[in-house]
Amino acid sequence: MSDSALFADKNADRNNEIAGSIREVFSYIAKFKGQLFILKIEDTLLDNPQFPVLIRDIVQLHGVGIKILIVPGTRKSIDRQLAAYELQTSFHEGIRLTSAETLPLVEQASLGAAQRILSYLTANGASGIQGNWVQARSLGIVGGVDYMRTGKIERIERNIIEKLLNEGFIPILPPIGWNKLGHAYNISSTELATELCRYLVVGKLFFIGEEGGVKLVDKGIISALNVNQAQEILAKNTNLPFAQKDYLENAIRACRTGAKRVHLLSGLSAGSILQEVFSARGNGTMVYDNEYWSLREASVDDIPDMLRIMQNYVEKGFLVSRSQDDIEAKLADFVVYVVDTAIHGCGALHAFENNVYEIAAIAVGANYRDSGVGEQVVNFLIEKAKKQGAEKLFLLTTQASDWFYSFGFKDGSIQDLPPSKREKYNGKRNSKVMVINIKR
Ligand SMILES: CC(C)(COP(=O)(O)OP(=O)(O)OC[C@H]1O[C@@H](n2cnc3c(N)ncnc32)[C@H](O)[C@@H]1OP(=O)(O)O)[C@@H](O)C(=O)NCCC(=O)NCCS
Repeated sequence: MSDSALFADKNADRNNEIAGSIREVFSYIAKFKGQLFILKIEDTLLDNPQFPVLIRDIVQLHGVGIKILIVPGTRKSIDRQLAAYELQTSFHEGIRLTSAETLPLVEQASLGAAQRILSYLTANGASGIQGNWVQARSLGIVGGVDYMRTGKIERIERNIIEKLLNEGFIPILPPIGWNKLGHAYNISSTELATELCRYLVVGKLFFIGEEGGVKLVDKGIISALNVNQAQEILAKNTNLPFAQKDYLENAIRACRTGAKRVHLLSGLSAGSILQEVFSARGNGTMVYDNEYWSLREASVDDIPDMLRIMQNYVEKGFLVSRSQDDIEAKLADFVVYVVDTAIHGCGALHAFENNVYEIAAIAVGANYRDSGVGEQVVNFLIEKAKKQGAEKLFLLTTQASDWFYSFGFKDGSIQDLPPSKREKYNGKRNSKVMVINIKR
C-alpha cells in the first residue's frame, strides 16, 4: 500500500460529533435561508491577511441562500487619504467634522473602500453592486458645533435595494449620502447599517471590526445580552471604548427598529462569522430584543431533531434507543430546549401509577453541553412533575448519576420503581436507579 493511501477514520465518537455538527448547520441553514444579514465591516480589516477568509465565508453564506448587504466602515481609508494630502479633520463626540475642502477626499476614500470589498466579492464568484441609494442632509450646527458636510440620513431607497437582493446581488452601500441637489455628505457607516434595519426586514446585523464582542474587566467577552442588559452595561461602564459604546447603542436601536439579532464580532479570528451564525457560541456578543431561548413542549416536527441529539448518546450506551414512533406515542411528555428556533436539548416526564413520575431522555447537543441547558431541562421537568401532583420521581442512568445528585436525587433500587416499570427493567443495561421524594 502506498504511503499516500487514505484510510477511513475509525474514531466513531469523532465521526458522530462531526455528523452532529453538520446536522446542526443544516438546521440553521434551513432557518436563515432567504433572511437578510447586514454587515458593517470596518476598513481596518481590509489589509489584514484574514480578510479574504472573512469574504469567502460571507460568500458561502450568500451561496446557501442568505441575502447579504455590506456597509464598509471608512475611518482608516479617510485618514489615509487625508494624510496623503496633509489634511486633517477634527472630531466631536466621535463624529468627524467634514469640511467642504476635505469632502472630495472623504468621498474618494469611502467609494474606494467599497470598491475594494466589491473586488474581493468578485474574486470569490459573488456579484456585488455599489450604488448611491441614500439621501442625506447636513447635520447642521448643533450646540455651536458646525458639522459642515457631515450628514444625517434622510431616506434610503428601499425598493431598489430589495430588488437587487432578490436578484442575488450583494449591495454595497458606502457611507455617503446625497441631497436632492446632488451634494454629497459624509455619514456614519454604523448609523447607516443601523438605519437600514428600519427600511428592510433584517435577520441579523453584524458590526465586524478588529475587536471582538463586549469585554468587561474580569469577566471576559459577554456572548449574549438582551437590550435591557445592554443598556445596563452602557450605564454602568461609562469608560467603555468609543467603538464598543457606539456599537452597543446602535445594536439597541437596531433591535428596537426590527433587527432580530445584532452581533459584535471580530473579523480577525478565522471563521468567526460562521461560528456566530451556525453555533451561536462564537467569539462575539449577540444583542437581542426578545428571549432567544425557550423551553417548550415538543411537537411532531421536533422529533427528527430530538432523535439527532439522542443518537450520539444511544450509540455510546448512555441512553436507550427510541424510534420516531416511540416518541410520537408519548409526545406530550417531551420538552425541547430551543435556541433561535433550533433544538439543542430535550427531556421527558412520564407518569406512572401512584403519583410516581420518571425523568427520562435528557440529552443536550454536543455544541451546547456545559452551558446549563441540561440543568434547565431537569429543573423544568421537576417543576412540571410537582404541578402534576408527583409524590416521587425516579430516573435510570448509566453515566450521569453524579450529575443527578446535584438536583437532590439519591441512589435507589429496582424496588423503588413502579411495578409496570420494574417489569420492563433491562438487567443487561444495569442502569442505576435514582429517586427523589417530593415533600408536600
Ligand atoms: C448529562 C447532560 C444531560 C448534562 O447536560 P449539560 O447541559 O451539559 O449540563 P449542565 O450545563 O446543566 O451542567 C454542567 C455541569 O455538569 C457536569 N456534568 C455534565 N455531565 C455530567 C455527567 N455525566 N456526570 C457528572 N457531571 C456531569 C459538567 O462537568 C458541569 O459541571 P460544572 O458546572 O462543575 O462545570 C449531558 O451531558 C448529556 O446530554 N449527556 C448524555 C445523555 C445522558 O447521559 N443523559 C442522562 C440520562 S437520562
